[in-house]
Amino acid sequence: MIQAASPRARLASTGRFSPPRVVTNAELETLVDTNDEWIRTRTGIRERRLADKDTGAADMAAAAARVAMERAGVEAEGIDMILLSTATPDRLLPSTACDVQALLGARNAAAYDYATACSGFLYGLSMAEAHITAGQAETVLVCATEKMSSIVDWTDRSTCVLFGDGAGATVVKRAEDGRGILSSYMKSDGTLAELLYRPGGGARIPLDIAVLDERSHFVKMAGPEVFKSAVRAMCEAAETALQRAGVTADEIDLLVPHQANIRIIEATAKYAKMPMDKVFVNVDRYGNMSSASIPVALDEAREQGRVGDGALVLMVAFGAGFTWAANVVRF
Ligand code: UT7
Repeated sequence: MIQAASPRARLASTGRFSPPRVVTNAELETLVDTNDEWIRTRTGIRERRLADKDTGAADMAAAAARVAMERAGVEAEGIDMILLSTATPDRLLPSTACDVQALLGARNAAAYDYATACSGFLYGLSMAEAHITAGQAETVLVCATEKMSSIVDWTDRSTCVLFGDGAGATVVKRAEDGRGILSSYMKSDGTLAELLYRPGGGARIPLDIAVLDERSHFVKMAGPEVFKSAVRAMCEAAETALQRAGVTADEIDLLVPHQANIRIIEATAKYAKMPMDKVFVNVDRYGNMSSASIPVALDEAREQGRVGDGALVLMVAFGAGFTWAANVVRF
């Protein structure tokens, strides 16, 4: 079928890394005043993976990247650029992307981090496409890596049960045979930043004893308000990306949404008029891995044969900022 949009960049491969340690809802019951039933019914989460103290965001990104590079047949020297999404950089200076560059030995690559939270993987696809279209790169590694366990407050039941750790990666190259990114949509609204944020520990309120005492360096979220914005924004993003690609929801083989909450996923699917059997869900096994959620889900979907050659995939994300984004991709 001829697409209205003509792709300029494609996802040549995907890869993922999940830390081996599984933390069940039952285990969290021993930490905070919560219970398996509440977590399952309100979020759909049954368990999540947590990285150990010796595993950083860069380690997880490099592990996911190695898988994606091997599948794409790309050597470290062949990478022109590393774009890395994280809300949990290993250090505030320099970037985690540079640590990944060093771990991979990607000595010809430019490297930078960007901070668009849960929408990070999809923002990264657009940036990779732009760099390729501008002639600045031929092979771009997009990584999304999150050690959320390092920034959640393990005494706050309203947030600590929601998140997990992990990383995903993709090698983006010039489009071929009409396959690739058919449409992109990115949006933001910084007026709502304080509904999901880390108040202290940055340049405005540098880390000091008061920040530590108030625990204001940890993630704070106004859950119900974020929930409503997420549904609204993801529906808008899905609709716009479909329109821009010139395809209808019926033509989409698989919806891969951000995995924050099964109820948000179901609402988005319903609005997009997509049955749940065409929606990839793994929030039950990983919780919310922020920007790593979509690439991990996409990689699992490909491994399970749900994204074969020629498949049309819609990806939709929403996160802190607020930021939101969607892409339609022909594989
Ligand atoms: O990834 C980026 C974006 N993030 C999201 O999209 C997350 C969006 N928000 C959500 O997914 C949901 O709002 C939550 C899962 C965070 C919360 O679900 P909710 O249905 O909106 O619950 P709520 O915050 O309105 O809390 C309902 C009740 C409260 O008790 P009262 O006031 O009714 O007595 C909470 O204190 O549930 C209580 N509660 C808990 N109970 C047991 C909150 N957290 C827990 C918990 N265990 N972990």
